[in-house]
Amino acid sequence: MCGIVGAVRSAAPVTAGLLEGLRVLEYRGYDSAGLATAEGSTLRVAKREGRLANLEAAIAEQPDWGGHAGIGHTRWATHGPPSDLNSHPHLAGGGGVALVHNGILENHEPLRRELEAEGVTFRSQTDSEVLAHLFAKELAAAHGDPVRALRAALGRVEGSYACAALIPGGGGARVVCSRNGPPLVLARGGDGCWLASDLLALLPHAPEVVFLEEGDVALVEAEGFTIHDAGGEVVERAPKAVDWQPGDSSKGQWPHHMLKEIHEQPGVLARGLANRIGPARDDVALEGFTDELLTSVERVQVLACGTALHAGMVAAYAIEQLARVPVDVDFASEFRYREPVVQGGTLSLAISQSGETADTLAATRLAQQLGARVAAICNVQGSSQVREADAVVLTQAGPEIGVASTKAFTAQVLAAILLAVRLGRAKGALSADAAGELLGAARQLPSQAEGMLTTAAREAIAEIARRHAAAKGFLFLGRGVSFPIALEGALKLKEISYVHAEGYAAGEMKHGPIALIDPGMTIVCLNGSSPLSEKMRSNVEQVRARGGVVLSVGSDPETHALASDVVEVPETHPLLAPILQVIPLQLFSYFVADLRGCDIDKPRNLAKSVTVE
Ligand code: M6R
Repeated sequence: MCGIVGAVRSAAPVTAGLLEGLRVLEYRGYDSAGLATAEGSTLRVAKREGRLANLEAAIAEQPDWGGHAGIGHTRWATHGPPSDLNSHPHLAGGGGVALVHNGILENHEPLRRELEAEGVTFRSQTDSEVLAHLFAKELAAAHGDPVRALRAALGRVEGSYACAALIPGGGGARVVCSRNGPPLVLARGGDGCWLASDLLALLPHAPEVVFLEEGDVALVEAEGFTIHDAGGEVVERAPKAVDWQPGDSSKGQWPHHMLKEIHEQPGVLARGLANRIGPARDDVALEGFTDELLTSVERVQVLACGTALHAGMVAAYAIEQLARVPVDVDFASEFRYREPVVQGGTLSLAISQSGETADTLAATRLAQQLGARVAAICNVQGSSQVREADAVVLTQAGPEIGVASTKAFTAQVLAAILLAVRLGRAKGALSADAAGELLGAARQLPSQAEGMLTTAAREAIAEIARRHAAAKGFLFLGRGVSFPIALEGALKLKEISYVHAEGYAAGEMKHGPIALIDPGMTIVCLNGSSPLSEKMRSNVEQVRARGGVVLSVGSDPETHALASDVVEVPETHPLLAPILQVIPLQLFSYFVADLRGCDIDKPRNLAKSVTVE
């Protein structure tokens, strides 16, 4: 999705810092990039389709390029294809201001017609250029007051936005910005102020950041920033300390962020458990999840998208089993449009790595309006999802840069299971012994995951991937709590290697997908020591009878004996098995994608955080 950076400094030039910020935002997915800088009243713009290197070349073509204030953008095309002209920033007001925008302006067409009738000439096909012209028009009407002008311009648009406009001027250039939907974060650092749509881009500048609230408009100058709330009042927003380090988002010695992040999982699991298991080791301490909140829960409504939804499906098995509370799991994008019924006593549980996924946020807000209390499992401190929840489990996985979610997923599943234990204990549905047994097994997870990520283990999976990379399709089968892992294995493979893969509940195979099976198909069968193993073995026999090639991933020796390839997964508590089973599937997808020459960290068409519908 699109990314925004901006800076106003008193003396130093901004270009290198803004380009560095755009580089950090690359992981979010983009197809073009641009930069505008101002020095006094001179405004310069460079923008190019394609990677940042193209933008740098465009800047190099302008020998007098410079400036102490600027805004930059990475665009992920929505209105109009990727092109130089459709890239941001957009100029308006006779080239007097430049504007960048994330989000979608739903009423851009009538506004464009209105502006054209007034004599405005559009240079791009984007919805965003409408906002640039509206802002320039309002700036003239407001006698150069950027806050009033942006508020007036935004008053005309419908939709979601984070935007920033650069206003050059003899007395010093300024940036004015606002958000309604996509995030925007500010920081004071060095000799100026910085802004970005993702706090990762601010890490090099300041240890503390300020998150704009919905409807805020901020005027950013070299000396500081002033925030006006949605009602127009000047407000102080408390700075938040950031516990991520600038180096956390670099891939170090690893060839890809995804491989690095897969290998970070033992540490992520250890952090996710640290200080959360109570002294008696039969309960969990989760800040904000009070007995008052938990004993009132009569139903849980999980809302999430993509990989986070699969974590939510595991959560459903764990909560129903351990806390005996019914759970519904919905695609956030479906929930928000299906006139849902939310009963009293519902806890809406949003699961999101970024905390900025538009569908998950909208669905959660709807659940809240309908009377639900809101909990979140989230990786990004200070994100919208975190700020809007009554109680939060932070997954503490550290920045996840690879578009394919790996360590955030295992952290979400662990957090969900800990929450299920806490809920079960608070509601008296889970005995101390049963909780103690599960938590004892959970404490083994970091070392078990470590054992699955040795060089030898990784090489073995790379070898299996070589044998299967040319398969015409993949069917992932799981039962019970391994069913969401079958879905996740298939999602991982298709999103980074572009091969067709489907995840199915193994019991459903006979109801349709069995027709796909032939010797060209690889069937990945998840198994464990659960009572369902025997049923999974029957499914494997049915696959073999039709010539399908079986890859067995799990801990059931009898299923392994039926397979062409085997990945051994250590034994654990059945509810924790997904955390270990998914690790080889992540590696398998990684190696298949690598063999197919795919852009692993930035798969085509995908964005890391989907902040528009
Ligand atoms: O940031 P979120 O966890 O809310 O993102 C949800 C999905 O967009 C995300 O999990 C997506 O499916 C990943 N690309 C999967 O690897």
